Amino acid sequence: MTQPVRVAILFSARGSNMQRLAHHLAKPSVGGEFVLAITNRPAAGGIEFCKAQGVPCAVIDHEDYETRAGFEAEMQKALDKAQVDLICAAGFMRLLTADFVTRWHDRIINIHPSLLPAYKGLNTHARVLADGGKEHGCSVHYMRAEMDDGPIILQKRVPVHGKDTADTLSARVLKLEHIAYPEAIKQIALKSGF
Ligand code: GRF
Repeated sequence: MTQPVRVAILFSARGSNMQRLAHHLAKPSVGGEFVLAITNRPAAGGIEFCKAQGVPCAVIDHEDYETRAGFEAEMQKALDKAQVDLICAAGFMRLLTADFVTRWHDRIINIHPSLLPAYKGLNTHARVLADGGKEHGCSVHYMRAEMDDGPIILQKRVPVHGKDTADTLSARVLKLEHIAYPEAIKQIALKSGF
C-alpha cells in the first residue's frame, strides 16, 4: 500500500480554507494526511482549530526574522521535520521567495480569490466591482516564483450581482473556495496516484 501524502497547510488568519482541507484530508480514501499547519501570525484564529484537532501548528512569526530567507529557513526546518510532501497555501499572506518556491516546485499550491490571471494581488473583490466585472471566482494553482502565477489546477466561477459589495462578493467566492480546494487535492491525487 502506498504511504499517504504528507500535507502541510500555510495560513495567516481565520483559516477557513485550512479547516475545510483538514476535514477533507481526514477522510481515509483521500490518501493524504494533514501533518503540519504553519502560520506566520501568532494571533491567527485558525490556531485554535489546530489545537482542537490535535494537528501540530508551528507559529513562525515573520516579524521575528530580519530577512525573508531567515523566516523561510525556519519554515523549511519544520517542513523537513514533519517530512512534508505537499504544501497548500490557504490564505497565507506572506510572499515567498523564488528560492523557496523553486525548492518546492510542483509541490506547493495556492488558492487565490480571482479568476487568474486576472486580479492578482490583494482586494480582488473590490477591484472586480470597481471594474464593473460580471464574473468572478477563485483559482487553485501551482505556485511559481511570480506572485499568484503558475499552472491552474482548477477554477470556479460566480456571477457578480448589481447589488454586490466587496463583502457579499467575497462571501460568495469563499463558499466556492471551500469546494475548490478539496477538489484540487482530489485532482492532484488522481494525477500523481496518491
Ligand atoms: C481566502 O479568500 C483566500 O483565497 C485568500 O484569503 C482568504 C483567506 O480566508 N488568499 P481563510 O483564512 O481561508 O478563511
